[in-house]
Amino acid sequence: MSIQITIDGPAGAGKSTIAKKLAQKLKFRYLSSGLFYRGITLEALKYSIKPNDSDKLIFLVKNIDMHLENNRLIINGEDVQNKLNSEDINKNVSSYCLNQKVRNLVTEKIRDIANNSDIVLDGRDIGSKVLPNATLKFYLTASDYTRAKRRYEQLSKDMDIKFSTILEQIRERDEQDMNRKIDPLVVPDSAIVINSSDMSIEEVVDKMVNYLNKLGVVIYEK
Ligand code: C5P
Repeated sequence: MSIQITIDGPAGAGKSTIAKKLAQKLKFRYLSSGLFYRGITLEALKYSIKPNDSDKLIFLVKNIDMHLENNRLIINGEDVQNKLNSEDINKNVSSYCLNQKVRNLVTEKIRDIANNSDIVLDGRDIGSKVLPNATLKFYLTASDYTRAKRRYEQLSKDMDIKFSTILEQIRERDEQDMNRKIDPLVVPDSAIVINSSDMSIEEVVDKMVNYLNKLGVVIYEK
């Protein structure tokens, strides 16, 4: 069986940066599961399908060819990776990912990838639902203020955006992701919780590597 390391947690906790670095260190594959939900949101918005129009949404998901090439999302032959972080998608993705059938289809895709390669994955329900028997599970969090500050520093380089707007969006997304009925964001059973509010990226990665060493997962330095 492949080695599977899951990193779940709220928006802006640094999951993707950390998961990518950890995967690089281990020479494992990296997968951001949110990419699929973002891709579905992109397509649904394109065809003006509402999040609660279940039939149309499922039809759409079943009929698009959505896969990864070099970790970039390809939908119907088009590389859409650069379109997945727009304001529009950030605002809407939490509503489109509420549909159970859509989630089941995405879950199948993720399991398929994870069962075929040693991998680090990040998301909201990876350790709790998608891969409950993963080799090691982490739950990465930080205060909402810290998470908003990090995102602001990243985004304000390229766009004119207010800190207060980002903080509000983070709080809204937390509210939706943690309180939804279907696959809510929870600390998975037996997950190691890391609060990164006062930690650098390297410190978090080192901490994870220490846990992996204890498990006997071999670490390859770059
Ligand atoms: O991780 P990312 O910010 O790209 O995820 C976008 C959104 O997709 C999340 O806010 C969440 O609503 C949804 N998501 C999910 N389950 C996952 C990954 C993401 O519901 N495993």
